[in-house]
Amino acid sequence: MPASEGEKIAELAKRRGFFFGAAGAYGGVGGFYTYGPQGASLKRNVEDAWRERFAVQEGNLEIDGPTVMPEPVFEASGHLDGFDDMLVECPGCGESHRADHLIEDSTGIEEAESMPIEEVEALIAEHDLACPNCGTPLKGEAVEEFNLMFETTIGPGSSTPGYLRPETAQGIFVEFPRLKEYARNRLPFGVTQIGRAYRNEISPRKSLVRTREFTQAELEQFVDPERDEPELAAVADIEVRLYPATEQTADDGEIVETTIGAAVEDGVIANAWIGYYLGIAYEWYESVGVDMDRFRFRQHLSGERAHYAADCWDAEAEVDGDWIEIAGFAYRGDYDLSKHAEHADDDFTVFRQYDEPKTVETAVVDPDMSVLGPEFGGAAAGVADALQRLAEREPAAFEGEEVTVEVGDSEYSVPTAVANFRIEEQTESGEHVTPHVVEPSFGVDRTVYTLVAHGMREDEVDGETRTYLDLSPTVAPTDVGVFPLVSNVDYLIEHAETVAADLRGAGFSVAYDDSGSIGRRYRRQDEVGTPFCVTVDRDGLEGDGPDSVTVRERDSAAQVRVPVDDLVSVLLDLRGGVRTFDDVLDEYDAVSTSAEA
Ligand code: GLY
Repeated sequence: MPASEGEKIAELAKRRGFFFGAAGAYGGVGGFYTYGPQGASLKRNVEDAWRERFAVQEGNLEIDGPTVMPEPVFEASGHLDGFDDMLVECPGCGESHRADHLIEDSTGIEEAESMPIEEVEALIAEHDLACPNCGTPLKGEAVEEFNLMFETTIGPGSSTPGYLRPETAQGIFVEFPRLKEYARNRLPFGVTQIGRAYRNEISPRKSLVRTREFTQAELEQFVDPERDEPELAAVADIEVRLYPATEQTADDGEIVETTIGAAVEDGVIANAWIGYYLGIAYEWYESVGVDMDRFRFRQHLSGERAHYAADCWDAEAEVDGDWIEIAGFAYRGDYDLSKHAEHADDDFTVFRQYDEPKTVETAVVDPDMSVLGPEFGGAAAGVADALQRLAEREPAAFEGEEVTVEVGDSEYSVPTAVANFRIEEQTESGEHVTPHVVEPSFGVDRTVYTLVAHGMREDEVDGETRTYLDLSPTVAPTDVGVFPLVSNVDYLIEHAETVAADLRGAGFSVAYDDSGSIGRRYRRQDEVGTPFCVTVDRDGLEGDGPDSVTVRERDSAAQVRVPVDDLVSVLLDLRGGVRTFDDVLDEYDAVSTSAEA
């Protein structure tokens, strides 16, 4: 029998078709998972719920970009140089390990990821760490930086290197010059993307928690750092549990229980936009069924932050005794757009209108080309450009008789009169600014994993232990199970099939089942988290078809008899949280549940 929570999740996930290691027929491959029918549906519902909250409700744009991009994108983003994990290779069996994880697993030291390589090497030696695979000591082995991106080549031949995107975010940043047009050049605006990302993890582990291919749901919120404020009041009263960096490094550090509003006001959360999205995320996680007693926000320690982040908080869920990161909220500043502006040939700024037009003095030159041409030949245009740049940078250089500029390796001297230097007054209506980016980034697979973990329950029904999955109707893979009470009476089967077809027609996802005892059919739906089951029985028959059916709630196993004419509206209300099952029990007749045999 599986013992730990992690083992129970893996067993249920495989047996009931949520997720399992991919390509098992070929021996499997670490870090890749296939979602089965239940898991694919649960994942899609999580994505839809995220899209509804973070794209639709926030009024943000959504895009869908490619997963492969050319090398210059990742040169600019810093991923080519800075997206590394620490690798140590076993001299005995050759297995590669993530050095910081070896330390964290064996010593209780936290956040070894944020330590310099020399310190990691020293800790491996000090704690006599050995290869988990074969036991060979790792003391003295070099720890190296390993880039996590999967490399490929684009097109035939190998001249155009590309990479599988390590985050969906870059697909948004590279398209910023066009996206800002769709947003009518007005900050703030947000762009979302849900899609696959890839990281060649040194040691994938913990099921869906650390995989090599995964799904992100990311929002890049572009803001004017001097002008734009979020609607903090909308989330100010939300109570959260925070684990700030200062508490993590203090000897007696502890979780801070506060509200979003107080945390921003006290500076615990330094940026109001980050605070705003922590609040929105808190409510969203609660709405999809995360157990908020097993949830917290933890701030990154300074050495732990990604190369682009000025501040970062993680949403963390407790699963199987570990806190796992299920989302990150990074203040990326102008890092990404500035880097793409340096490397790409486009405009990554937004025009900020001044409240009042300003008069500014600008240094300009208007060199006499009839002199520069004969004097400098092919270099004349370069000299003219260099004069303009010098005028903007150092107007005082034009105070003497002659001015000297460098073009390439050569110096050129020009009489100041020929340069035609002057100061002009110009009226400016605004300026170009590089927006700052606030990024809520959600791991979809880790959210799915958390929902399964937090939803697993055991209780007793009819004297038997049952396992059920307490999934929110918002994300449950199937909305409703439909059964004939007994599986060998043709007219009950026919009527139940009609009810199932009608519910499908009304937009419900339906699992129809007429095999085995009714109790076993209820248990099957309980285990995959179907919130409601409808049963067609003889008591409900009238004339040519069913007049009423029973509706059973998963968690309480309570049943109520509902007229068929009311069935769609009752189920819609139950799914949407408009009515509770107790409301429905008050309205209609309860049914004895002793029939669950
Ligand atoms: N875009 C943030 C991340 O991938 O971690």
